[in-house]
Amino acid sequence: MKAIVVTSHEGPAGLELRDVPVPTPTAHEVLVQVEAVGVNFADVLGALGRYPAGPNPPYVMGREFAGITEEGQRVMGYAQQAACAEYVAVAEGYYWPQPEGWSSSQCAAFPVNYLTAWLLYWKAGLLAESIEPAAARQKTRPRVLIHAAAGGVGTAAVQLGHILGFEIFGTASSPEKLDKLTPLGLDHGIDYKLDDYEERIAKLTDGEGVDAAFDCLAGEHTAKSIGCLAEFGRVILFGNATGERPRFNTSAMYARSLSAHGLWLTKLSANHALIRQALDSMSPYIRGGQLHPVIGAKFPISATADALRLLLERKNFGKVVLTL
Ligand SMILES: NC(=O)c1ccc[n+]([C@@H]2O[C@H](COP(=O)([O-])OP(=O)(O)OC[C@H]3O[C@@H](n4cnc5c(N)ncnc54)[C@H](OP(=O)(O)O)[C@@H]3O)[C@@H](O)[C@H]2O)c1
Repeated sequence: MKAIVVTSHEGPAGLELRDVPVPTPTAHEVLVQVEAVGVNFADVLGALGRYPAGPNPPYVMGREFAGITEEGQRVMGYAQQAACAEYVAVAEGYYWPQPEGWSSSQCAAFPVNYLTAWLLYWKAGLLAESIEPAAARQKTRPRVLIHAAAGGVGTAAVQLGHILGFEIFGTASSPEKLDKLTPLGLDHGIDYKLDDYEERIAKLTDGEGVDAAFDCLAGEHTAKSIGCLAEFGRVILFGNATGERPRFNTSAMYARSLSAHGLWLTKLSANHALIRQALDSMSPYIRGGQLHPVIGAKFPISATADALRLLLERKNFGKVVLTL
């Protein structure tokens, strides 16, 4: 079968469309004929050798997919690896029926972005299902800051947060990206190239701040995100797009009883009960048509390198999907 193989850690230049053996599923796996694959920032990091504990080349890339099982069931799933191929073997608990009416491209754009987005709100303590409820859950409209709001996870978090009734603040690098976020439910768009988001949020909230900040950037942005938090607020650390370690504003943390939490779908995906809860919680919004993945670009798998370049150059809006 054809597959996209990461042959070296040279980024997009190290990807090759190669013939590899069709995987043999174990007793607890199904074989899925792949129709579409979601592209993630993690794929870019993996191709550059920067993903934590990522595999060494050569390996088949692809974290999430949609397709059809040998029994004819239309499914979408999270494989972490090897999904960018004509067939993928996937274990029970890591694949789910496709929502009715959704295309395979929409389904491939769902798992990583929406599970991560739901888990961010869950970890922020803002959901009924949260096991560490936050004080802000009592507020009529908790405020949330989403960085990289125009990216894959960002667009999902804006959409979900709006559906859940939160007041959403989002940062992005251009007015064009921010304009496209308004219809998804972004209340306050901040072009961080023009405006200091810490100052802007202080102004927009009369100095009160936001109840949660989702930080996928790290470096100075962790300290600045903490600076945006209201009393008892939480920063959720879930990535380091800047390539730097997070810096902390401990004086603000002491002064306003703030806390920092971590989140990694790679690990939490093994908690099938939690993932089931996330899917059950989002399914009424999927059925109601409010929640639908935002696909910014589609490429055939032969152009996977171009798809990764789009992410590297930060030109994507929403999700990038590969089709087979
Ligand atoms: N912990 C988890 O479980 C988990 C799961 C999924 C994703 N993540 C993390 O979440 C982040 C977003 O992932 P995604 O797949 O949604 O990515 P994406 O669609 O490619 O979005 C990334 C966006 O981040 C912004 N950005 C800001 N500073 C950046 C920098 N120094 N380098 C690159 N991008 C920068 C860019 O938007 P602007 O141009 O608008 O700034 C870029 O388009 C990544 O850090 C990823 O590792 C974590």
